[in-house]
Amino acid sequence: MSTTRMAEGIAIGYENAVEQREPVKLQVTGTIPSWLTGRLYRTGPGTQNIPSNNAPSGSVYLKHWFDGLGMTHCFEITLTGEVKYRNHSTALGLQARYEKAGKAVGTTFGQQDPCEAIFSEFFTAFEPLGVDHPPAEQCGPDDRNVSVTLTPDMSGFTSHHAIPSGISSAGPRYIVAKSDNDALQILDPDTLRPLHYTTYNYLDPRLDGSMSAAHSCQDKETGEFFNYTLRFGRTAVYKVFRIRRLSRAESGKDYEVDILAEIKDAPAAYLHALTMTEKYVVLSVWQGDFDSNGASIRQNHSIAGSIAPWKPKQSSTFYVIDRHAGGIVVKFETEAFFAFHYINAYDSGDDIVIDIAVYDDHSVLQLLYVDILKSGTPSPLSRARRFVLKNIREQSSGESARQAKVEYTLPPSSSIELCTVHPALYHKPYRYTYGINKEDFTKSVGFTDRIVKLDMSEPESEPKIWTIPGTAPGEPIFVPRPGSSPETQEDDGILLSVVLDGKTQKSMLVMLDAKDLTEVARAYMGTHFPFGFHGVFTGLK
Ligand SMILES: [Fe+2]
Repeated sequence: MSTTRMAEGIAIGYENAVEQREPVKLQVTGTIPSWLTGRLYRTGPGTQNIPSNNAPSGSVYLKHWFDGLGMTHCFEITLTGEVKYRNHSTALGLQARYEKAGKAVGTTFGQQDPCEAIFSEFFTAFEPLGVDHPPAEQCGPDDRNVSVTLTPDMSGFTSHHAIPSGISSAGPRYIVAKSDNDALQILDPDTLRPLHYTTYNYLDPRLDGSMSAAHSCQDKETGEFFNYTLRFGRTAVYKVFRIRRLSRAESGKDYEVDILAEIKDAPAAYLHALTMTEKYVVLSVWQGDFDSNGASIRQNHSIAGSIAPWKPKQSSTFYVIDRHAGGIVVKFETEAFFAFHYINAYDSGDDIVIDIAVYDDHSVLQLLYVDILKSGTPSPLSRARRFVLKNIREQSSGESARQAKVEYTLPPSSSIELCTVHPALYHKPYRYTYGINKEDFTKSVGFTDRIVKLDMSEPESEPKIWTIPGTAPGEPIFVPRPGSSPETQEDDGILLSVVLDGKTQKSMLVMLDAKDLTEVARAYMGTHFPFGFHGVFTGLK
């Protein structure tokens, strides 16, 4: 099959998906391990093209991949070894607004529609310096597009009025969908139906920024949740915060928000993630600076269109924040880089090890338009880089930043995106990461064509690869075998990835032995699964 034909087949992954609200049983081949039961939830774009009589072309075409309207999916692997699949569109209220207007309204990631005139979801009152969010209580549950990451049972909502007491899920009680703005969407874990839309600002008025990280952090043992909000203005203000669950409700709420640090000496930047260790939260301000500290967004209503030109000599900065007591402990600098994702971070004595999937610059943001992706235009893929921040508690002289040590950067053959690790080892010492990879990104046949496993403790080792020519896998999620030790049997489990077959133009849930990436089973879908972002696996109760 020619490269062009493969690219054409895979391009269906950027087309509208078929909604499937009732679960359907998938045909399974191979042998699913008897212990592998639970739910794989995934989210991402589901609709890129909205028929509209009010649009000059007859439809509203969402040009940037990140602007596709949300769809949440669930693959349930039952106790009897069946695989059932369902999905649910999660932004139908916003879709109706687009259809009525005949165009995308509000600020998007990359639509860059100069005629926008209704209101800006992110940045309505970006003037003069503050942010006046659209009142969350005036929004319907699916009036916003919130479809990047999913946090089951996120702190802050355990007794939320939108979660009916009648929900008796075999998985989590509820799921919170998140994005890079301050939007939060509560989903029914069984039907995937949006239940409620809210914002961080609604949780606590001090969280007054219009952006945050889609990739927040949650401590599995304490339930503490960490993120930042970014308020635009002449001085950009990042507020790194924690949400704690209270054992007893106080003043009618069962959580407390603590502002751990305010950062006012960094440029306003597009930061898709933050990370933490057992002692610290780290906000890495890599280079994704907004023009005029974000003021440009008000003019062009586009995130990607408001990113300032690359400045190769501008350092990127790590802010290390005491996770428990709060306060900025120390800053580190390194050469300019861009990223979407951390791989992991952990304490190592008095040092912090931070692994990031880095890009040499932010040009990738301009390459994630659907037309470009469909065309098979070559684009870079991120590489694993290990930073070490040395002697965190050593007294610094003044406020100047110290230099981060770059321990290694893996070669392009080991490129990795949509990276994941053993779920029990986030923020702890670890060895393996799994992600997507591309055989040769100078000859693209899509965003990705392989699954990769890297041994971060042996950077010289050969990466393990799984691939079938003409297919495109999504983010692999590791599910540990029950009873296996995360420390001594870190890769004892199964990787789950939804893979699109360009030849049949249909997708399948592929299950791999995480040790050697051999395939153990697959479950065939009757349709294509749209290329999406992130997911999470939860066991059955
Ligand atoms: Fe992401």
